[in-house]
Amino acid sequence: MLQLGQSSHWQQLQQLAVKYQQVHLRNLFAESGNRFADYSIELPSLLLDYSKNCVTPEVMQALFGLADDMDLAGAIERMYRGAKINTTEDRAVLHTALRNRSNTPVYVDQSNVMDLINSELSHMRQFVDQVRSGEWRGYSGKPITDVVNIGIGGSNLGPKMVTQALRSYADSTINVHFISNIDGVEVAEILRPLNAEQVLFVVASKTFTTSETMTNAQTARNWLMASAFDERAVEQHFVAVSSNAEAVQAFGIKSEFMFSMWDWVGGRYSLWSAIGLPIALYLGFSQFEELLTGAHDMDRHFRDAPATHNMPIVMALVGIWNGLLHGAQSQVILPYDQPLESFTAYIQQADMESNGKHVDRHGQAVDYHTASVVWGQLGIDGQHAFYQLLHQGNVIVPADFIGSLASSTPVRGHHENLMANFFAQTKALMNGIDDTEVEAQLRAQGLDEEQVEKLLPHKVHQGNRPTNTLLLKQVDPRNLGALIALYEHKIFAQGVIWDICSFDQWGVELGKTLAKSILQEINGQVSHAHDDSTNALIDYFKQSRV
Ligand code: F6P
Repeated sequence: MLQLGQSSHWQQLQQLAVKYQQVHLRNLFAESGNRFADYSIELPSLLLDYSKNCVTPEVMQALFGLADDMDLAGAIERMYRGAKINTTEDRAVLHTALRNRSNTPVYVDQSNVMDLINSELSHMRQFVDQVRSGEWRGYSGKPITDVVNIGIGGSNLGPKMVTQALRSYADSTINVHFISNIDGVEVAEILRPLNAEQVLFVVASKTFTTSETMTNAQTARNWLMASAFDERAVEQHFVAVSSNAEAVQAFGIKSEFMFSMWDWVGGRYSLWSAIGLPIALYLGFSQFEELLTGAHDMDRHFRDAPATHNMPIVMALVGIWNGLLHGAQSQVILPYDQPLESFTAYIQQADMESNGKHVDRHGQAVDYHTASVVWGQLGIDGQHAFYQLLHQGNVIVPADFIGSLASSTPVRGHHENLMANFFAQTKALMNGIDDTEVEAQLRAQGLDEEQVEKLLPHKVHQGNRPTNTLLLKQVDPRNLGALIALYEHKIFAQGVIWDICSFDQWGVELGKTLAKSILQEINGQVSHAHDDSTNALIDYFKQSRV
């Protein structure tokens, strides 16, 4: 396989990026009335319109050539077949197997992982049914009403995002809560209104060593003991999702109430595993299965569709092109659908933890940008906060607009209004408004020469800002599964093209290790020898706190 710099299409794209500096999206639309037909892909769950990016047949051909040069098709196959593509940790990457609803065998080290997955799914189903039916009882004999997930990063963001997104599919059986922060404020506030007799804690940690999670789990356990006064209550109120059976047992959780995950499931790709237990407890197991089915639909599309009609591949390539053309180093994700409130935060981890890398697969420093800074929030709120920069700032931020044909909770007149904003924004970002148009508007308002001259430059919008539009039929479990998998595969495809290892996260280790030693220093057990700033700050904290 080539290194990226050796790809002739990569070199061609760099030349095209210079040529296309002169091209405005407005002109591309003026030249062709078919851009939507040419640059959109429709799947049963969602539609992608990427025509408001500066793409032409010439650009797309070079991008597809780049994908071939980097053997994207081969990399996809290797992932699905369980090859150990996480090379720095010598692991397979099989979140696709977790939702492999067709149940075709997938082998890792000659063993079919579908057996493990199916048995864990049955385990989950049985447990979920027990809790939701009220058969599972707390220490005082009362049924469970509240599930509290304790986990962080991939052991929190996925279940939190999905349960928020699918709230309208939940019944009133179980409430769900999430504790991730080691800041005691969160755990205190979440536990305060709950009745310990009816709470089930899911301690979600692949390693079962993550300090935030273990500290919160211990606090939750103390809180339970303050009402139960009996260590045996732990068994009725705590279950774990982990791959560290020993640590789970040491915490006091029985092995039958430990749900497994495996080393071939990355934390940020784990919501499809037992990490999704809070989703299933909240919504019921069949809704969780629908989510898996939606992701599987997208998995099949990614594996089987030709690159030219392959939604994740096209999104990956267009993202890479925007980096080359506009020097874009950030990417904003803007859901216009309240249920998707936490979607951006979820994708932020998936993307930045996967592709925020400075060396290629062979350990050589790369001379191109890898992952962008992913940010954003609900688009409609963003309009009144940061869109000014998107429209008139002097950086270009490619944007993904995500909306739905129908609201999952219709309220008369609201959805149409929301979507009018959605369509208006992508048009404004693409088209802008030039000086001739601004001048005409100002004159029509009766402004004199001096006022027109003064205001004109401030009112010009250059436009030519690239956007993708994603339209879901509706945020339901199946469509949401497909949407999440779409982004996962986009991230994977970009990692393949950038020739980086997308499935490790060594970059988060350094800070974690330092925090451990600094905690001992704060607690006064050892002295510290850091740089002058860090030493002084720790001293200041120790001496000045009340
Ligand atoms: O912050 C790094 C990280 O390792 C993430 O990748 C992971 O999702 C998170 O920590 C939580 O890890 P664990 O599930 O082992 O507690």
